[in-house]
This record gives sequence, structure tokens and C-alpha cells, in this order.
Amino acid sequence: MKCAIVTGSSSGLGLEITKSLIYSGYTVFGGSRSGTDLEHENFYDVELDITSEESVEEFFETVREFTSDVHLVINNAGICEMSPLVEMSMEAFELHLATNTVGPFLLFKNLESFLIPGETHIISILSTASQYGYPNVSAYNASKFGQLGIIQSLKKEWKDHKLRFTNLFPGAIDTPLWDKMGPKFGRDKMLKTSDFMSVFNFIVHAPSTIQFPEITFLHRDGYLE
Ligand SMILES: NC(=O)c1ccc[n+]([C@@H]2O[C@H](COP(=O)([O-])OP(=O)(O)OC[C@H]3O[C@@H](n4cnc5c(N)ncnc54)[C@H](OP(=O)(O)O)[C@@H]3O)[C@@H](O)[C@H]2O)c1
Repeated sequence: MKCAIVTGSSSGLGLEITKSLIYSGYTVFGGSRSGTDLEHENFYDVELDITSEESVEEFFETVREFTSDVHLVINNAGICEMSPLVEMSMEAFELHLATNTVGPFLLFKNLESFLIPGETHIISILSTASQYGYPNVSAYNASKFGQLGIIQSLKKEWKDHKLRFTNLFPGAIDTPLWDKMGPKFGRDKMLKTSDFMSVFNFIVHAPSTIQFPEITFLHRDGYLE
């Protein structure tokens, strides 16, 4: 039995990833606050607030009831709000850091005892905003740059485990993430979820002797700004 953890499994990319992994034979432990209607014997819909240390610990206690081996980790949960920096509240800024930076820190902190040396693959859904500054998303940019820093540091700390780390840097993708951001950005200039999944599935199903440290991919028309 191959086990996967997917954070943010209730919507968008996380939900599509979850369905695809179940279809491929993985047992999936999906974490989110709102959960999903998805029902399958190989899917465990587990409550998770990635910003809460207690909630992340409880999530892993649930996983531990079934397995101590996690083959695949999809670090995906995240938020993004658009606002000029001077109009953004401190609470909103801090929520981005709590979700997109502290969240992955808590995920990785609780993961170590589930790692399979030479086997576990950790795929992080970062963003072009982890490497490239966009206007009106300073909080998102800061939180995703920070997340990348955590992963780059941890990769060296866990060198002896011989894991695979894949950092994905997609451009804009048409998911519910954009629903609250108004009509300014045409969805036709975004990748489709199916475009994202074609890259994701290529990586997940590639021979385990190959590693993909970093992959940037975006709509052929370029960065959305
Ligand atoms: N869409 C894009 O253009 C794009 C581009 C590049 C990278 N990304 C990244 O892709 C990832 C997924 O985004 P998406 O587009 O699929 O967005 P989405 O449809 O809004 O999904 C976000 C997911 O994150 C979960 N989440 C948010 N806060 C959480 C919390 N405190 N605890 C646990 N789960 C939480 C949500 O679940 P609940 O609300 O149920 O908790 C939801 O399942 C994010 O990291 C995003 O930064 C997206």
C-alpha cells in the first residue's frame, strides 16, 4: 500500500491531485478545514487547519492510526488575497504567513517519523510568486518566498534520508483561488487545472531514479500581472 498526504484537499489543485492519486492506487490522507464530498475506500478526509500546531499534530495522529510510512507528500494548502500593500491589514498579512509559511513548517516538523529513507517524495506546490514579485500580492509573495527558504534549508538537513524534493512553480491556474479576486484577470490567460495535472502526473509517475528539483511552468502568454 502506497500512502500519500495531501494538504488542502478540499478544493482546486489539492482536490484534483487527491482524485488522481486515488485513481493511481494510493491511499490518500487529505487535510483541509472544510473537507470534501469525495468518498472512496482509499481516501481519508481528515480535518486540518495548517495554521494550528495542535491541528497538524492531530492530523498526523490520525495518519498514524493507519500507517507509519508516507511515500508521497503534497504540500499544497495555501491562500492568496490581492491588495495594495498599504491597504492590507496586518491580520491579513499574518494569515498569509501563518498559512503559506508556518503551515509547511508545521507539516514538515511532524512528518519526519513517517519518512521512508530512499523513497519518500515531497512535492511542494509553490508558485512563480516564490521567485518573482507581482504587484498587489506582497503578503503572498513574502509567504511563498519564505516557504521556499524553509524547503531549501530542510532539503539539506534531511540529506541523509535520501528523499526526493520537487518544487513546482506554476503561474496562474484557473481554480477557486481566483473567485474572490474580481474580474480583472481573464481566466483565458491562466493554465487550466488539467494543464497543471499533466505536469503533476508526469512527475509523480516518472521512474523513482529521476528527481525534478524545480519546475517553473506558466501559460504560453507569460506572467499574469
Ligand atoms: N491557482 C493558482 O493560480 C495557483 C498558482 C500557483 C500556485 N498555487 C498554489 O496552489 C495551492 C492550491 O491552490 P488552489 O489554486 O488549488 O486554491 P484553492 O482552490 O483556493 O484551494 C486552497 C486549498 O488550501 C486549503 N487551505 C487554505 N487554508 C488552509 C488552512 N488554514 N488549513 C488547511 N487547509 C487550508 C483549502 O481548504 P479549506 O479552505 O477547506 O481549509 C483548499 O483546499 C496553493 O498553495 C496556491 O498558492 C495556485
